[in-house]
Amino acid sequence: MKQDTIVVIDLGSTENADIARFVRKQGVYSEVLPHDITKEELLAKDTVKGIILNGGMNRNVDGNNVVIDDALYALNIPIISIDYPETKASVTYDEIPSEEILKDFVFDTCKANPTWNAQNFIEAEVKRIQDEVQDKKVLLALSGGVDSSVVAALLIKAIGKQLVCVHVNHGLMRKNESETVVEVFGKDLAENLVYVDASERFLTKLEGEADPEKKRKIIGNEFIKVFDEEASKLNGIDYLAQGTIYSDVIESGTKTSKGVKSHHNVGGLPEDMQFKLIEPMAQLFKDEVRECGVALGLPESMVYRQPFPGPGLGVRTLGAITRERLHAVREADAILHEEFAKAGLDKKVWQYFTVIPEFKSVGVTDGHRTYEYPIILRAVNTVDAMTASIEPIEYEVLGKIVDRILSEVDNVNRVLYDLSPKPVATIEWE
Ligand code: XMP
Repeated sequence: MKQDTIVVIDLGSTENADIARFVRKQGVYSEVLPHDITKEELLAKDTVKGIILNGGMNRNVDGNNVVIDDALYALNIPIISIDYPETKASVTYDEIPSEEILKDFVFDTCKANPTWNAQNFIEAEVKRIQDEVQDKKVLLALSGGVDSSVVAALLIKAIGKQLVCVHVNHGLMRKNESETVVEVFGKDLAENLVYVDASERFLTKLEGEADPEKKRKIIGNEFIKVFDEEASKLNGIDYLAQGTIYSDVIESGTKTSKGVKSHHNVGGLPEDMQFKLIEPMAQLFKDEVRECGVALGLPESMVYRQPFPGPGLGVRTLGAITRERLHAVREADAILHEEFAKAGLDKKVWQYFTVIPEFKSVGVTDGHRTYEYPIILRAVNTVDAMTASIEPIEYEVLGKIVDRILSEVDNVNRVLYDLSPKPVATIEWE
């Protein structure tokens, strides 16, 4: 099904994605395109009903001021421009206009139909994947994170057992996380879900390494090695699926913007492995990925899973990782999650977790001196993880968590609550 589309042309703004996201929230598909898009490229897209020329500070590319092709003005498509002095559009704004004005443009001026929703996207994407993949096989690294889980669910709907998923348990997952992946996807994929328990291998590699960046590197590199080893055991795979989402695409930069960062979810594949890439979520913002996950029937715990760093509990078991402390931080994290869910805080707090440091302190249990580790609780709210504030948590809830950790988790005799915002602290401790 062709979608009515409002295109946002990047003429140096840093707020292209915000406008596209707002238009999509109204149910109309919107896409960010570079300044040098041609008339032909534009017409080859879904039905373009309106154009927003979005100027801003970054308008100098290779020493030239960015301008659009005059041919776009002759297309008979409504155009508004924002903060762009070179425009020939009849309606111009100095800054992003109000939501009401944008809505009037989309619906009254452009007469766009609001047909953009999860159900329609899934239907169209399933067909597109079937047409492209035909009877070939697709490989996916399924971490259990939101993006790869939704990609898996969509591919299962489109091509069933032509999908092969590899789940690498690096031993640094939260409690029951790998088990959930196997439970949710195992029934559809059966033998096509390759579960690799590489915990021992990762922990051995990490032994004695205390430097956070070196730990991250070891975990990242080892992950790619394990995935490659498993992939090379499989035969007849043509495609590699990735959980790339639209913000990765935009952050990588339209031709106009300088790339903020380049995205890559799986890297370092052996050279003799020539996969074609398939990125079914590349059009979607994170909230849209979640809506698709729900529409595809994934459990809420998976779809609304809070961000979890790739190196997992490896960066929350501070310093050189030991099995003892890793176990303690995982058990304490599970208690924190249970108690936050009971108190309804799981929907209010963006990210919450436990950390275990390397030092010990003196305590007393049943009249005996103990010398054990503390657990640190962290609960933060943020929009973009660049800054973060501390969510006030009631003492009653904190007290329950402290009681449970002290009575249920071995090798722990103290619980601390980290009240530091970002900045000056970061969200993670390593
Ligand atoms: P910081 O600690 O920099 O974290 O304030 C910001 C957000 O990024 C997450 N994070 C990571 N995610 N790999 C990831 O995939 C990493 O190495 C990593 N380090 C931090 C962190 O959990 C927070 O949401």
